[in-house]
Amino acid sequence: MDDTLIQRLFDAARAAREQAHAPYSKFKVGAALLDEQGRIHVGCNVENAAYPQGACAEGGAISAMVLAGGRSLQAVLVLGAGDALCTPCGGCRQKLREFGADSLPVLVADASGLRARFTLGELLPASFGPDHLKARPA
Ligand code: THU
Repeated sequence: MDDTLIQRLFDAARAAREQAHAPYSKFKVGAALLDEQGRIHVGCNVENAAYPQGACAEGGAISAMVLAGGRSLQAVLVLGAGDALCTPCGGCRQKLREFGADSLPVLVADASGLRARFTLGELLPASFGPDHLKARPA
């Protein structure tokens, strides 16, 4: 992935994070996804007074991608704050798996820049995905 593309994902995630609704945790997150058509889709976390109803940034970005017709993730960038890396939560890793291969690059950033790079396979090893539902016994 070239630097220009990473910068575009970074800028998109940083702008998305500005829109986060996180009055309870105060932990704002932005996510940017690159689809198979080279388009970028973004999401931010949206919390709720009924806490479990809150939604992660990655899920919002996936919904935006699907709505726009995208079905194959090429890259993901998640941007948060704090000392610890803002890696996708377990549920989001599985949501990414629906549209991404083990080799999918998952970049982690904060507002000052890129901090780490993983593959989805590293974050979610031996995962269960769409292929498991193909060619199953009758
Ligand atoms: N959050 C995300 O948006 N993505 C993640 O992968 C980790 C957590 C959000 C959910 C919640 O609004 C806040 O961060 C604190 O958990």
